[in-house]
Amino acid sequence: MSDTAILEIDGKKYEFPIIRGTEGEVAIDIKKLRGSTGGLITLDPGYKNTGSCTSKITFLDGEKGILRYRGYALEELAENSNFLEVAYLVIFEELPTKEQFKKFESTIKSYSMINEEMKDILDGFPKNAHPMGILSSLTSALTAFNPKAVAIENEEEMYQAICKTLAKIPVLASWALKKNRGYPMNYSNNNLNYIENILEMMFKIPTETYKLDPVVVNALDQLLILHVDHEQNCSTSTVRIVGSSHAGMFASISAGVSALWGPLHGGANQAVIEMLESIAKDGGDVEKYILKAKDKKDPFRLMGFGHRVYKNFDPRARIIKKSADEVLASLGIEDPILEIAKKLEAVALEDEYFIKRKLYPNVDFYSGIIYRALGIPTEMFTVMFAIGRLPGWIAQWREMRLNKEPIGRPRQLYIGEKYREFLTVEKR
Ligand code: SDX
Repeated sequence: MSDTAILEIDGKKYEFPIIRGTEGEVAIDIKKLRGSTGGLITLDPGYKNTGSCTSKITFLDGEKGILRYRGYALEELAENSNFLEVAYLVIFEELPTKEQFKKFESTIKSYSMINEEMKDILDGFPKNAHPMGILSSLTSALTAFNPKAVAIENEEEMYQAICKTLAKIPVLASWALKKNRGYPMNYSNNNLNYIENILEMMFKIPTETYKLDPVVVNALDQLLILHVDHEQNCSTSTVRIVGSSHAGMFASISAGVSALWGPLHGGANQAVIEMLESIAKDGGDVEKYILKAKDKKDPFRLMGFGHRVYKNFDPRARIIKKSADEVLASLGIEDPILEIAKKLEAVALEDEYFIKRKLYPNVDFYSGIIYRALGIPTEMFTVMFAIGRLPGWIAQWREMRLNKEPIGRPRQLYIGEKYREFLTVEKR
């Protein structure tokens, strides 16, 4: 394949370099398009055909259903690693040595306290506030108590800010749940590992000791590994573009939390369970809902189905579906909506509408069933997604900053009114 792409307009030819990725992906470098053509731009709503950056963090092949973090296959990491180690890998580019992991874990633990005044902000929320709204607000508020994490001038400051973020966000997430339940907040327990601590902060109540179940700990650890990063998805692109203005780490992550909240993105895991529960309440008639999903006049979408990149099985969905069976069996849980999910999937995968549009279950289709089995309430599912995606957001933010990328500022095609004179109100 040639090293340049030729664009011909009005008989004039313009050449642009072709750049190739490590896995054979090919891009036309149009950095000089506007300058060399006197103002020409491309138009691509939703950036379906547009690369915003080069990255070394995650590779995914939507046709083959491949997902790798820093070259390691997701399946192998989910099988052999743990969430905090995978967090280190995506952020600092290599799997950690024993000493590096020990320093990383202890530095994170050293930052796990939250300023008590943060509780005054939390008190301002109504009890039924959605946990994602609370998490986004409290994450942004961390900037007020940690100004150092904003002016990041060197790798050591970056390292400390990264450990602070990984330490404090799960505490805030657990506070959002406690707020919802009207229970007292827990603090981090530095005697526990990262995942055990998250579970204890979420579920421990003052009147009882919280007993950690290894099945639950391992299931959550694996589930969070599957969510760590996913290249330039909506919330990650948000974190990168907010960070590109040199807004601080907490402000950028807070924006990512807000983007993830949408039901077309991370909010889908909550929407899937709500959809499955309504199908169950409606007598479990999956065919009726498949018809609704196909009916263009009906706004209903099959939540947890379809993906911008995967036009084959989402590899994460495959792992989660298997894990859902194992976790529910080992916890002795019979959840009727798991059977409805499987029936829905089976019918959809045989249906021309879904086959033609290459719509398969995505990461959100089964994840909620495991969260439910772990005792996590539905409104907290997207918060769990945020905790899982946090290392990916941080890694992408760090890469963007270290690459000294320019501030993100897309162009547009104006199709509004031409110049017109101002009309006084009498003349309108
Ligand atoms: C995540 O980007 C990422 O990597 C995201 C994520 C990550 O890890 O960060 O993987 C996490 O967000 C997963 C996706 C969670 N969202 C949902 O499950 C919501 C339901 N899915 C859809 O809304 C949709 O599939 C998207 C948003 C996921 C993808 O949308 P696209 O790529 O913009 O596709 P589209 O909306 O243009 O749909 C193409 C066609 C359309 O039909 P036609 O106009 O061609 O006739 O497929 C149809 C759509 O109507 N379609 C669906 C559908 N998804 C797409 N029809 C019914 N049910 C669906 N779920």
